[in-house]
Amino acid sequence: MSLAGKHILVGVTGGIAAYKIAIVIRELKKKGAEVKVVMSPMAKQFITPLTLATLSQNPILVDFFNPENGEWNSHVSLGIWADAYLIAPATANSIGKMANGIADNLLLTSYLSAKCPVFIAPAMDLDMYAHPAVQQNIETLRTRGNHIIDAEDGFLASGLVGKGRMAEPATIVDFLEHYFESTNDLVGKKVMITAGPTYEKIDPVRFIGNYSSGKMGYALAEECASRGAEVILVSGPVSLKPIHPNIKRISVESAQEMFDAAMENSLTADVEILCAAVADYTPAVKVDHKIKREKTGAMSIDLIPTKDIAAHLGQQKKKGQLMVGFALETDNEEVNAVDKCARKNLDFIVMNSLKNKNTCFQCDTNMVTIFDKDGTKHPYDLKPKTEVAKDIVNHIVEKLS
Ligand code: C5P
Repeated sequence: MSLAGKHILVGVTGGIAAYKIAIVIRELKKKGAEVKVVMSPMAKQFITPLTLATLSQNPILVDFFNPENGEWNSHVSLGIWADAYLIAPATANSIGKMANGIADNLLLTSYLSAKCPVFIAPAMDLDMYAHPAVQQNIETLRTRGNHIIDAEDGFLASGLVGKGRMAEPATIVDFLEHYFESTNDLVGKKVMITAGPTYEKIDPVRFIGNYSSGKMGYALAEECASRGAEVILVSGPVSLKPIHPNIKRISVESAQEMFDAAMENSLTADVEILCAAVADYTPAVKVDHKIKREKTGAMSIDLIPTKDIAAHLGQQKKKGQLMVGFALETDNEEVNAVDKCARKNLDFIVMNSLKNKNTCFQCDTNMVTIFDKDGTKHPYDLKPKTEVAKDIVNHIVEKLS
C-alpha cells in the first residue's frame, strides 16, 4: 500500500536491462503509483517509448523540448513532481556522469535538480561493474545519499556470468515499497544527536582535538530525518553540512558547549544518540595569548576532566526516552562496551573497533556490533556509514515499538 498515490519518476538509460523496466513500471502502476518516464537518447534503442508510454499512461520524455511544438520539458518541475526518482537500468556511463555532475540529457538534468530521494539500479557487464572507476562512482553516489539497488550476480547478456545484472523488477519494486513504508516510522519523534569531535582550546591558535569526521553522526541525522523525525544535531567542528530540512544543527566547539546544548535539548527528546567523540580532558587554563616556545626544557599543560554528556543524560533519563551511545575501544572491546552501556544508563551501545580494516575515523565505511543493555549481541557486516545508520535506526525503531 505504501506506493499508492506516490509519484515515481523512472529514468531509463541505454543498457540491455532496459527491457525489464516495462515490468517495473507495470508493477508500480498496479500498486497505485503515478509514473512518468524519462529516457536517455540511447535507451530508445533498447525499448520503445511507445511501450513505456502505454504502461505508464504518460508521454515519454527524452528531449529538453518537444521538437514539434517547441514545448519545454522542465527538469525542475519533474524533480519537484517526483516523490522518488528511480534510475534503472543505470549504465556505467550515466553513473559516471551523475557522480561528476554532467548534465547532457534530460534524465541527467532531472537527476541534478531532483529534490526527492533517488534510487539507482546499476546494470552492466561484470568487468565494467568491477572496474575501480565504476565502483568509485557508485560509492560517490551512495555517500551523497542516493539509494543504490545493488546489481545481482548471474547470467549476463554478454554470455558471461558474474555480478552486474540489474536487480530483478520485483526486488526494485520491493526496495521502493520498503523505503516508503519505513519513511514514516519516526514521525512525531524528536531525536537529538551529538556528532563530531570537540576542540579544547589551549591558547588562541591551538587546541586539543581528535580525528572524528562526524560522518557517522551526520548519516544518523539524515536517516532519522528521512524517516520523519525532527532532528537536533549538536555538532562539533566538522566539514559536513546537513542536507535534510528536518535537521536543525547547533554548532559547538568545546565539550562544555556540547554539554550545554545537549542538556538544553534533551528535555524534549524522545531519542538521544550520543555519537560525538568528546574530549575527556580540557586545559585547566585557556591562555589568552599565543604561548611562546621556550628556549629549553619541556612544557606541560594541566588538564582537568570534562563532563560526561552521556552519563549526565543517562542520570536524568525520563521514562520512555531511549538513549544510544557509541564505544570505540582498542582492547577488551566487548567487556568495556557492555560496561559503558550500564554505567551511562544507555538502552544500547554501538561498538566499533579500530582493529577492523576500513573502520577508521575518517572512513566512509564502518563495521559495528550493537549490545543491548541486557548484553544481547547484534553483529553487522562492514558497510557504508549510510547503511550502518539504517541498521542503527532500525534497532531504535524496534526498541521504541
Ligand atoms: O569516551 P567514551 O568511550 O566514554 O564514550 C562513550 C560514549 O559516551 C559515546 O557515546 C560518547 O559520545 C559519550 N560521551 C559523552 N561525553 C563525554 C564522553 C563520552 O557523551 N564527555
